[in-house]
Amino acid sequence: MSYESEDFPSKRTVYVVICWILAAFGGLMFGYDIGISGGVTAMTDFLIKFFPSVYEKKLHAKEDNYCKYDNQYLQLFTSSLYLAALFSSFAASKVCSTFGRRPTIFVASCFFLLGAALSAAAHNLFLLISGRIFLGLGVGFGNEYVLQSVPLFLSEIAPVTSRGAVNILFQLFVTIGIFIANLVNYATSNMHPYGWRLSLGLAGVPAIFLFIGSLVITETPTSLVEHGKEEAGIKALKKIRGVQEVDVEFKQIKTACDIARQVKHPFKNLMNRSNRPPLIIGICLQVFQQFTGINAIMFYAPVLFQTVGFKNDASLLSSVITGLVNVFSTLVSIYAVDKAGRRKLLLQACVQMFISQSAIGVILLVNLKATNSLSKSEAWLVVVLVCLFVMAFAWSWGPLGWLIPSETFPLETRTAGFAFAVSSNMLFTFIIAQAFLSMMCHMRAFIFFFFAAWIFVMGLFTIFLLPETKGVPIDAMVDRVWKKHPVWKNYMEDADADSRSNI
Ligand code: BGC
Repeated sequence: MSYESEDFPSKRTVYVVICWILAAFGGLMFGYDIGISGGVTAMTDFLIKFFPSVYEKKLHAKEDNYCKYDNQYLQLFTSSLYLAALFSSFAASKVCSTFGRRPTIFVASCFFLLGAALSAAAHNLFLLISGRIFLGLGVGFGNEYVLQSVPLFLSEIAPVTSRGAVNILFQLFVTIGIFIANLVNYATSNMHPYGWRLSLGLAGVPAIFLFIGSLVITETPTSLVEHGKEEAGIKALKKIRGVQEVDVEFKQIKTACDIARQVKHPFKNLMNRSNRPPLIIGICLQVFQQFTGINAIMFYAPVLFQTVGFKNDASLLSSVITGLVNVFSTLVSIYAVDKAGRRKLLLQACVQMFISQSAIGVILLVNLKATNSLSKSEAWLVVVLVCLFVMAFAWSWGPLGWLIPSETFPLETRTAGFAFAVSSNMLFTFIIAQAFLSMMCHMRAFIFFFFAAWIFVMGLFTIFLLPETKGVPIDAMVDRVWKKHPVWKNYMEDADADSRSNI
């Protein structure tokens, strides 16, 4: 079901503004957690406290450049959050469907606060990792609202001609969160010996807003209707919209809920043949997103920049630069996605990312041996190439990895399908976070060719398997997109029967 927003009268109410701010804070918080760990990992005080062996390795000039940071626990510090998020998102969806959105956000903010406090105050590795796990539980519960509801909601309410732009606002806040984390790390790295505590503890700030927000907001009309409270649903909708005439919109919400309620087994239905195309595409986009190597950069850029020879400060500053490039390039995407379309952006980015990753690989292969460091100009060239890579990702695979799965599933399986995409993101983010530093140690410069090879595959995937969805109303996807696609049309013979059997 696609809503044309002009059908619904509404005023900009305080309530809506609060919802938007909450969504924004959710994005900021997710981004902050992505961006903060890499800088902290590179801080001397932090390494001495929790990873003295890594610090020792770093000091020894003879130690292999590529292997200085190869430590499973150091990687676990970053990755544990995503594993916890993956598991808790299943529990969160149960809590959300039983108790509603508001308690779910409340629980998420409590986990976030606890996680930030624990990791900032940690005096041993166990507490440090526990803190990260609590943050992950927060992301898992926040997922229900932030990663799942917000992108879906944004896609559903946006007019079809600007659906892409509206949806990408979410990714914009994620990139701003990453950028703030880069800045914070740069600022705290010289506050000895506890700068890292401040970096980790500041994750609690957006959580406080989320906590207050969860007390202020009321339940959403959809959630009230889902729980059979129609009167309360109408009241909430009037409050949200700030007008009395909400009948048309309420009817739409009710129809959507009725259909959703009749779907007995959304996850089983997802396996119907006709649901496979959006499912395969949603999962592939998320897996590919991670195999571009983006989070090797987002998590480990400061470490990577130290590997090529920058001192601590310069490496953190370089991360600030890549963070800024990430934010501005996402703005390009907001502008371009409904004009150029999804496929063009994805393909252009594949070319740019392929060239950047391969060039970084060549520079390191030729110039960075086990114990030397790159010349200043070579090291800066690596930073420029990383920026070109991040730029391309940020206007394509980054936002579109979320946008496309939010617009391609039919209503009956949209929530379940999107949940698969989110879980794939968490799983593969975990894998990259846990493996990158070890892969770099074993594969050396070839790790960048590994990413380049994936990017090549992604290009082929886009050319042959990814249909254009620009300007197509969500409820017309089956007829206008899937049934017309040379490969996916073969899966659509039973689409109408599947859709009836879903209900
Ligand atoms: C990805 C994250 C990534 C971020 C970078 C998101 O779309 O899902 O894994 O860190 O983009 O901006």
